[in-house]
Amino acid sequence: MRSKAIVCFLFSGLIFCLSLSSLLADEIYTDEIYAEKCALCHGEDGKGTPTGIDFGAKDFTDAAWQATRTDDDFVNSITNGNPDNSNYLPFGDMLSEEEIKAMVPCVRAFAQ
Ligand code: HEC
Repeated sequence: MRSKAIVCFLFSGLIFCLSLSSLLADEIYTDEIYAEKCALCHGEDGKGTPTGIDFGAKDFTDAAWQATRTDDDFVNSITNGNPDNSNYLPFGDMLSEEEIKAMVPCVRAFAQ
C-alpha cells in the first residue's frame, strides 16, 4: 500500500516537472538573445559598438531616433535586414517571429 503511494507521488512529481519544463521552454529570454546575437554590433548599452557604428547602427538610447521608427519598422528590419545596407543581416532565419517581436520592447527599453 505504501509503495503504491510513493509511486503515485513520484508520478505526479514527474508530470509536474514535465509541464513546468514545457512552460519554461515557451519563455523567450530576450536578454540572452540580445547578448548572443545583437550586442556584437549594438553593444550591451545599446549605443552601438565601434563595429556596429561603422556598419551604420543607430544609438538605441536616442529617444528622438526611436520615435521616428514604429514597432513594425523594427520587426521588419530585424526580420529582413536592410536591403540598402548589406551590413545589416536579416535575423528571420535565426529567430522565430515571436522572438523577433519580443526583441522590440527590449530595444525600446534602452531609450526609457
Ligand atoms: C552585424 C551587426 C549587427 C547585428 C549582429 C545586429 N544588428 Fe541591428 N543593426 C545593425 C545595423 C548596421 C543597423 C542599421 C541598419 C540601417 O538602418 O541601415 C541596425 C539596425 C537595427 C534596428 C533599427 C532598425 C530600424 O528599422 O531602424 C534594430 C531595432 C536592430 N538593429 C535590432 C537588432 C537586434 C534585435 C539584433 C539581434 C537579434 C541586431 N539588431 C543585431 C547591425 C547589427
